[in-house]
Amino acid sequence: METLENIASKVVVCPLCDLSLKRRNAVPGVGPASTNLVIIGEAPGRFEDAQGKPFVGLSGKFLNKYLETAGIKREDAFVTNAVKCRPPNNRKPNDAELNACRPYLVGQLSIIKPKLVLALGTSACNALGIKYKHLSDVRGKTMEIDFGGLKVKVFVTFHPSFPMRFTKPRQTFLEDLKNVNSLLSG
Ligand code: URA
Ligand code: SF4
Repeated sequence: METLENIASKVVVCPLCDLSLKRRNAVPGVGPASTNLVIIGEAPGRFEDAQGKPFVGLSGKFLNKYLETAGIKREDAFVTNAVKCRPPNNRKPNDAELNACRPYLVGQLSIIKPKLVLALGTSACNALGIKYKHLSDVRGKTMEIDFGGLKVKVFVTFHPSFPMRFTKPRQTFLEDLKNVNSLLSG
């Protein structure tokens, strides 16, 4: 039987895309297998690459603060990314990288079977195969998707780096996270 530890042990030595060439540490994800929430970001940044853990840098601190304000306990969620290795200069992961890394995400979600997946931004949507023209077409919405044969309920919001950088989307980001909290307790 596959376990999260099992997947993590494959991710840390994974050679399946070019991001393997420049990483210091792959970042499989952190959190319990028994949880109702999986949070998916974009990709590890510099601090994540150094520590092998997701969302430990500035956008992680920002995310933590907003999750807490919305009443969501981050430690209770499983937190991971669309791709598990840092893209050079923090560029967005490309389709080849998202495709190469997708089976790990499918595996993680198949094990956890969360009540809800929180997709943070465009790369998380791309990893999950959620189609949109602009993120605003899907942001704030809950959708049922088929992900590698698994039925998953997804809520989409901004990547935290956007409301971190700009004040205007912060209220919407917080309201989205409060809606996530309601969906989880409902
Ligand atoms: N940004 C992300 O999308 N993920 C991380 O883990 C850190 C920053
Ligand atoms: Fe493997 Fe994913 Fe890292 Fe690419 S990003 S090397 S597919 S773990």
